[in-house]
Formats: sequence, C-alpha cells, structure tokens
Amino acid sequence: MTPEEFRKHAHELVDWMADYMENVEKYPVRSPVKPGDIFNRLPDDPPLNPESFNILMKDFEEIIMPGITHWQSPNFFAYFPANTSPPSVLAEMIISTLSAQCMIWETSPAAAELEEKMMIWLRDLIQLPPEFEGVIQDTASTSTLAAILTAREKTTDFHINNDGAENTGTLRVYCSEQTHSSVEKAVKISGIGRKNMVKIQVKDDFSMDVQKLKEAVENDKRKGFRPCCVVATICTTGTTAVDPLRAIGEICADYDIWLHVDAAMGGTALILPEFQWMLDGREYIDSFVFNPHKWMFTNFDCSAYFVKNPEHLIKTFEILPEYLKTRTRGKVNDYRDWGIPLGRRFRALKLWSVIRMYGVKGLQEKIRYHVKLARQLAEMITREKDFEILAPVTINVVCFRYKPEGLEMTEINKVNETLNHQLNDSGKIYLTHTILNGIYTLRMVTGQTNVRMEHVEKAWDLIRNTARSI
Ligand SMILES: Cc1ncc(COP(=O)(O)O)c(C=O)c1O
Repeated sequence: MTPEEFRKHAHELVDWMADYMENVEKYPVRSPVKPGDIFNRLPDDPPLNPESFNILMKDFEEIIMPGITHWQSPNFFAYFPANTSPPSVLAEMIISTLSAQCMIWETSPAAAELEEKMMIWLRDLIQLPPEFEGVIQDTASTSTLAAILTAREKTTDFHINNDGAENTGTLRVYCSEQTHSSVEKAVKISGIGRKNMVKIQVKDDFSMDVQKLKEAVENDKRKGFRPCCVVATICTTGTTAVDPLRAIGEICADYDIWLHVDAAMGGTALILPEFQWMLDGREYIDSFVFNPHKWMFTNFDCSAYFVKNPEHLIKTFEILPEYLKTRTRGKVNDYRDWGIPLGRRFRALKLWSVIRMYGVKGLQEKIRYHVKLARQLAEMITREKDFEILAPVTINVVCFRYKPEGLEMTEINKVNETLNHQLNDSGKIYLTHTILNGIYTLRMVTGQTNVRMEHVEKAWDLIRNTARSI
C-alpha cells in the first residue's frame, strides 16, 4: 500500500469510525451470534494474492460486525465497562502508526519519560503518597501477578528467584471471598499454590472482615506458615464493596506482610475528593493497581500499577542480557525491568491525550455523573415493592433482583436468571449477574462513557416490564 492509498483508506476509515460512534446504539448490545457462526463464515485458507481494503471492509461489515458485542454502547451495563473516548482513539491511531517498541528508555525515550510523567499525574490525581512510583501494565491481572511475585520474593529474601522454592516454607496470601479471580490466578501461577490462598469472610456489606483476617494470620503463624501478602480491594467486582484499608494495613504492618490493593475499577473514583475515604490507610500500601481502561475513558489496555519501593519490583523482574545493555542504564527508567514482558506498547500517549483533552475537571464531572446515575437508579428500584436492592451502592454499580410475592428463593433465583437472559437476548441492553449469599443478583453498571439518564430510565422500564411479564 502506498502512502497515497493509505491516506485514502484511512480517511474512509475515519468516516466509518465517526459513524460507528454516532450510531453505536443501533446495534444489538450483546452480539446475537451462536458459537461457530463467525468461524464457519471465514475461509479455510488465507488468500494467495493480495486483496483490496474495500473487500476487507465489506467482509468486516458482513462477517465480523455481527459478532461484536458493543462495549461502547450507552446501553452496555454489564461487567465493568471497558471504556474508550475520542481522545483515546485518536492517540491510539498515533500509537499504532509509530508502533514504537518501548521496552527500554533508549528504544523510545519520549515513551519512557511520558510514562514516568503520566504515572506521577495519576498518582497525584488519586492521591497516593508522593513516594509511590508507577508503571503501565497491560491489565490488572498482570499488575496483581507482579505484586504477588514481588511479595513472594521480598518474603523469601529473593530466594525463590534465585534458588527455586525449596526450603522457603509455605507462603500464604489473604484476600476476601469477594476478591477478583485474578488474585487466585496469580497465586496459582506464582508457585505459592491455590490452597495457600486464604479467603477471608466478608461482613454484611461484602467488605473484608478484618477480625477474621487477624485470626487467619495468627493461626497460620502458629502453624509455621509464612504470611506473604494481603490483597485488599477498593470496589470489588460483585458489589463494589470497599475493604477497610487502614485496619488491614495495621495487621500487615504488625506481621510484616505485603499489602497489595486492587482498585481496578474503583481507583478512578479516587480522583473525586468525596471518594478519598476509600484510600484511608494509604501509608500501609506496598502496591496498588487501577485500570484507566475500565472507567477512565482510555481504551484497553492500560493498567496503572504503583509501588512504594520500585527496588523490590525491579529486583524481582530485572534481567540483563548483553543485547539490552545501554549506556543510560541506572540513569533512566527501563520499564522492561518493571514487569513481565520485554516488549511494551506506547500506552502513555493515550493517557496523555485523555487527561489533557478532558482536563481533570472534565474527568471529575463525568465520573461524578456516573455515580449520580447509579444512585438515581437505586432510588427508582427502591420505589418498586417487587424489586429489592441487594448491596450498598458505592460508586457505579447497583445490585438488585426482582422479588415477586409468593415464590421460594430457588424460584426467585430462576425468575431472575430468566429475566437476565431475556433482557440480554433482546439486544436492547446488556446486564450481568453475580451470586450474593445464594441469591441470583443482577448488576447494573452506570459507567459507560456516554451513558445518560435517558438510557438508565429506558433500561429500567425494560427491566420492570420484562420482569413482570415472566
Ligand atoms: C476488582 C478487579 N480486579 C481485577 C480485574 C481484572 O482486570 P483485567 O481485565 O485488567 O485483568 C477486574 C476485572 O473486572 C476487577 O473487577
């Protein structure tokens, strides 16, 4: 493709992108296709001869688009959002054009230094203590794995990295029953072993019961286990419960345990002064992750990982083959030493673009609006006698169920499961569920970039009417 041909197609594509953004609501939110539908429409062999962009786009529209779930639809209320925004998309276009490999400072000094600066901006925006330093990882799962590996190494005096796991005793990791599965995955693949992950009971509001944490740690010490890491969550996946950081931090300090905080979703709320309470006890934190790719309008992937002391992180991950030696080593941040992959994308540019084009005030306004939508939705639900709110509304998630009179718990669960499927099959909205104390719970998340009150009201009408017609 010549630069002139590229220019022509890229202009066409930008038109497609703007049209998509304008019309995203017209698509079924969750893709209606069946397993195999897309695969079976794709040819068995790749083309021998070059094909044109126009043919590619035609097939994209016909074959691929029906199999897309529209995460950017304002009627997407499922999971947690994976937001984007025009400033993020524009930056992503530059990123893929440059396609710089930002593994070390020298392979793109601007990428390394912009990343360093963006992490300072973010750190200060969410008000982590000033000694924290940050690095962009791909996902919260990777950040949490980095945290658990670093905690493992610190606890064993970097023995496992060097000598393997013999004679290091049994390490233990603690988190609540509501913790995201990425923690279990990290414990599994770090060699600590799933059976050494201790799930601490939660209280009525689904936050970690700290007394139970203390008992578990003391019990483990008595048995000769080595407490290694506690993972506290700021806004859990199921209900956005907030684990009490200060009380957890005090236990970590008393027993010299690494404190990792998973704020994948809730971290964004910390840019609002009214949510700073969630970070009370910040001085105890060793590592902290939040995902601008969830709620901060920065397209996937972009996970902000902060550590109090980068030395532990670097010591865990650094490796220095001859071909990566540079004259600037030690004077700059070579981010390949701050995580698992060597190769790194230029993700800082997206953050720069988003933060500058929204401005801090713009970000705050939008986040505050999403929180307001969740509260108003909760009020609408509370007004209906045959619906029930099932967890405190903290940020942008409302947990509820339809509770018609005269049905048993299992029947009510079944009705709500049917309701969820009917709503999602309609293509008009997309919701997902969780189970809380045995109760099938619908979760509605009002955090999509372009969601407005009218979308929430329409969705609520649809939910009510569908429920009552089951
Ligand atoms: C609390 C929490 N932590 C971690 C994750 C995993 O995020 P990622 O997809 O970035 O690995 C999620 C995903 O929803 C989450 O809700």
